[in-house]
Formats: sequence, C-alpha cells, structure tokens
Amino acid sequence: MSTGGRRVTAFAPGKLILLGEHAVVYGHRAVALAVERGTTVTLDPCEGPTRLADADPALRADPRLARALAAVLPAEGLAVTLATDLPVGRGMGSSAALAVALVRATARLAGREADLDECIAQGFVLERIFHGSPSGLDHTVSARGGAVVYRRTDDGPELSPLDLPAPLPLVVLDTGRAGDTAALVAGVAARRPGVDPALAAIGALVDATLPALRAGDLVTVGRAMDEDQRLLEAIGVSTPEIEALVTLARQHGALGAKLAGAGGGGVVIALCPEPDALLAAAQARGVPAMRA
Ligand code: MEV
Repeated sequence: MSTGGRRVTAFAPGKLILLGEHAVVYGHRAVALAVERGTTVTLDPCEGPTRLADADPALRADPRLARALAAVLPAEGLAVTLATDLPVGRGMGSSAALAVALVRATARLAGREADLDECIAQGFVLERIFHGSPSGLDHTVSARGGAVVYRRTDDGPELSPLDLPAPLPLVVLDTGRAGDTAALVAGVAARRPGVDPALAAIGALVDATLPALRAGDLVTVGRAMDEDQRLLEAIGVSTPEIEALVTLARQHGALGAKLAGAGGGGVVIALCPEPDALLAAAQARGVPAMRA
C-alpha cells in the first residue's frame, strides 16, 4: 500500500485515569478522561522499506516501537514521523495515543476514516505489544474521547460516556520518572490473591463515586481520589516521589490527589479548583506541572 503520493496525518489524545487503575484489569470499573495533548502520526511516501523518519526521542527510544509499526504499516514505501506533546511513559497514555493515531493514519492511507470499533480493535493489538496484558482502557478512551466509564468483560469492553456538569479542575504533577506499565501490572498480578480485597475496594469506590461525578460534587470526588491513592499504595504501585507530590498537592488546596496510570513514577493528578498556589509551589520545587 502506498500513500498515493501524498502525506497522511492523524492525531489521537492521551488520557488521565481519574479512578480505578489496576483494578480495571480485573473487571472492575474505571473512570478516565481524554486530554487535549496527544500524539500525531505522519506518513509520507518514500522509496524502499518503511522506516521511522523522525520521532520524539522518548518515543524513538522504546524498543517495542518497531514491532508496533510493523504490525499495522505496510513493509514498503512509508516514512513515518511521530510527534507528541504528552510526557512519555508517565501514565498519560502516550502509547495508547500512538496506537490510535497509527490506526487512524493507516485507514487514511486507504482513503477512509477508521471508526470507533476499528480504533478499539486494532488499537488493542498495538497496546498489547506495548503493555503485555492491558485492560484496554487507555486506547479506548483515546479513541472515544471525552470522559468514560470503562469495564473489561469476557465479552469485550463495556464503555459508557460520563456526563460531567463541568470540566474537572485537574492539575497534573510529573514525577519525572517513567513507570513500566507491563511490569507494574505483572507485579500486582504476582501479589494476588493478597491484594484482591484492595482491588475490589477500588472497584467499589469507583461505583460509589459515579453519582458525585455526575453531580459535580468535587469534595466527594476529591475524597475518593485520596482513598484510591491509599489503596494504590496498598497494592504496591506507589512510590515515595508520588507520595511527596500527593502531599504537596494536599498542602496547596487540592481536594484530593492520587497517582494516575500504572504508578511506579509517572504523574500525580490533583483536583484543585484554585490551582495557583499548587502551580506556584510546583514551580518553586522544579516539578513540571500543568492544568489538564
Ligand atoms: C495504565 O494506564 C492503567 C492500568 O490500569 C493498566 C491497564 O488498565 O491496562 C494500570
């Protein structure tokens, strides 16, 4: 397949998991939000084998990238450029955004648009290359956009949009360290059945918090985030760096804060209606921070 001599591009957003990571792998619900940042794939026609022409260093450094590209792209005739404004490997869905953008770009090569089902099915093939045995949450949110409630079932993903009365006032704080999702998920699996009560408690917390999310009750949502963080610590995926940022957030006006994604590093999200004090405190400590 060639691009017909023309350039093809596609974008997909990253995500933040508000509640429910890790437990979602075991069939519990999770809530996640697509973010504005994401990954763009550009395919240009070229002579010879398909090759990576240019990519952000953090994306290029991933040893799984070549396998992911080979899984969807034709072997000949494409120069691939990858650009992202997501922090890579920090729990913001950079690989999921890459997966969905690749599926969209590949469909455009054939002169059509990939629909949601195709993005979810094909994106999962790529996410498995990156993360081993993921729940499918990350790329599903990237493909769907917006806020979603997600559950993995034996019959496939159960996905429903979550209507928030207003965007959540989230601040993202970056530990500056990448977490290895596949290794963290495998670590939790190895600690079962001991961690099963904590995983079930995370699932119950998500279910119990949905009405507060729909009602815009930020105090209750913040408390749930704090409780989720406590449970994520109990299953062994938090780190001292994460906990330092959670404490910083709580000391500077956050209603709740937690790691977001697989943990082991990555980002912390803080629910912070008045974010200026937290953003200033992060800046004073050299912690990369942004509003989501
Ligand atoms: C990673 O972003 C989220 C995890 O729940 C893994 C998964 O859902 O596949 C840790």
